[in-house]
Amino acid sequence: LPKVRVRQHVNPLCDKYQTPLTPPNWNEIYPEINKPLHLDIGCARGAFLRKMAQLKPDVNFLGIEIREPLVTVANLERDRLNLKNLHYIFTNINISLPVLLASLPAGVLQYITIQFPDPWFKNKHSKRRVVQPELVDAIASNLVNGGYVFLQSDIELVAKEMSDRFQSHSSFQKQHQETWLATNPLAIPTERELYVIERGGEIYRTLYRKGVDR
Ligand SMILES: C[S@@+](CC[C@H](N)C(=O)[O-])C[C@H]1O[C@@H](n2cnc3c(N)ncnc32)[C@H](O)[C@@H]1O
Repeated sequence: LPKVRVRQHVNPLCDKYQTPLTPPNWNEIYPEINKPLHLDIGCARGAFLRKMAQLKPDVNFLGIEIREPLVTVANLERDRLNLKNLHYIFTNINISLPVLLASLPAGVLQYITIQFPDPWFKNKHSKRRVVQPELVDAIASNLVNGGYVFLQSDIELVAKEMSDRFQSHSSFQKQHQETWLATNPLAIPTERELYVIERGGEIYRTLYRKGVDR
């Protein structure tokens, strides 16, 4: 994989990231669009999804990322590996999620992951964070009943804010008693997750489900 150099962070509030995406023709993206769809928000270089797509051919995977060069390279790598159940899109998810989700066939969106989304841990930058109440509303309206949302971060304050925003929405039930999950229920760790683990850092993980009791 060519290691493209990109800025560490981009400010999602700046003008150039305010245009909602034009949704693609999903039938041209996935040969079988009616498979369950797993959406990963803030996928960076996309390694997590690449491995998931290889592991689970019966699921379609979609990665969203605001740093465009990473998306270009991730799609090239997808082509090289000939993975038909994997696609990456460049957009600001906080602007595009409603239009993106409305364009999907009904009933396909089953899993959402938001993993280490934010460098924005200062209070004055809280509006730049990914998990805003509007994003939770859009997910509540479009995730299938029984669908899962998995969240993780190494910044406790950010993890707590994400968790609280799902907790306070009537559509979602937390799937565990303890504040944080002790282990990751997914088979593949993300790049950021491996980096944190290597340094012995703490990770705060939680799992929500829409519309059904535990
Ligand atoms: C710290 S990285 C974590 C990447 C990956 N999920 C992982 O765990 O290794 C967070 C990613 O989210 C992306 N991101 C942040 N805000 C975003 C937004 N509003 N829309 C789409 N992507 C965003 C960043 O550009 C960055 O690549």
